[in-house]
Amino acid sequence: MSFLYKARVPTNIAFLKYWGKSDEQAQWPANDSLSMTLDLFSETSAQLCPPELQISKVGLFKIRGQILQEENPFLKKPMKQLQYLASTLGFNEKLIIDTYNEFPTGCGIASSASGLGSLTLAALACWTRSSSLAELANKGFPLERLALLARMGSGSACRSFWGGFVHWSRGASIQEQNVSPLFAKEHWDLRDCIVILSASEKTISSSIGHGLAKTSPLYAPRLTRLPQRLTQMQEAIRNKNLRLLGPLLEDEALEMHAVMSSSQPPCVYLEEPTHRFLTYLKESRQQNLLEVFFTIDAGPNVHLIYEAKNQAAVLNLVKGYKTIDIGIASGPVLNRTGAQ
Ligand code: PMV
Repeated sequence: MSFLYKARVPTNIAFLKYWGKSDEQAQWPANDSLSMTLDLFSETSAQLCPPELQISKVGLFKIRGQILQEENPFLKKPMKQLQYLASTLGFNEKLIIDTYNEFPTGCGIASSASGLGSLTLAALACWTRSSSLAELANKGFPLERLALLARMGSGSACRSFWGGFVHWSRGASIQEQNVSPLFAKEHWDLRDCIVILSASEKTISSSIGHGLAKTSPLYAPRLTRLPQRLTQMQEAIRNKNLRLLGPLLEDEALEMHAVMSSSQPPCVYLEEPTHRFLTYLKESRQQNLLEVFFTIDAGPNVHLIYEAKNQAAVLNLVKGYKTIDIGIASGPVLNRTGAQ
């Protein structure tokens, strides 16, 4: 009987941002990063691909059941990641991959962390015939190893292998980096209300942006500041102190965007509606003293981080805007069913 291996992996929002690499080839980040895992998943299934169905070097790719041709630009990263996994780990069976995001594409939420994470998990489950995360771990692929393998497809994907709050430590060498959970989802009931200010596609991919970071005069000073900010953020999360965490989140996001926009050529992700919204947020906060703070990724949309007890007030603040309001997720899920 042929089996279908289904992996669900959540996306995450970085509090301390990964921006810039010390080694491009090995995807070794220039700094540590820290994230909160979001309750928004990509689901990817993998099954063995019979020879007559192989239309690409790696097998067959589908999105929601629709076959994609090998030249489709969407396949560039997933194909590269599958080829990387197959060649470094010595698996040569071709796969049928079918993937979809639980969240709408083009809504401003990057799917690379959950997408590349779920692809890595599904492919390894299929190649090793593992029906659960425990079985996969017994066969030599614990979460730590899966995370580091997923990192090669998209750096931020490595932080999606645990729920709650996750730390990717760069270590003193490529071999010493590691990814580990800091606090479980139950530790602190934070939420992320994403305010969609523009659904336009990124004009500069994060891969190009990472490469440009070192051309910014603000990059080297940023790297010297980050260890202290990391310690402060960890402390604020440990003590569930949003008044302390909030300004750190905002400084961090603005600093990353300052590096981006001062690189050569500049990577400008913030748009006019982003600036208008940030002014509105600042003014409303002064009036109602609500504890809600922003962070922003490589795009124009704003993530509002707040405690669940303030949900009604935060949703009231953003009424009239297009939003996606989400809580923290637990980690990935893997199961196996009979293939159709
Ligand atoms: O994982 P990548 O290569 O798409 O880079 C992610 C970059 C940011 O989202 C801007 C920051 C981060 O740490 O997630």
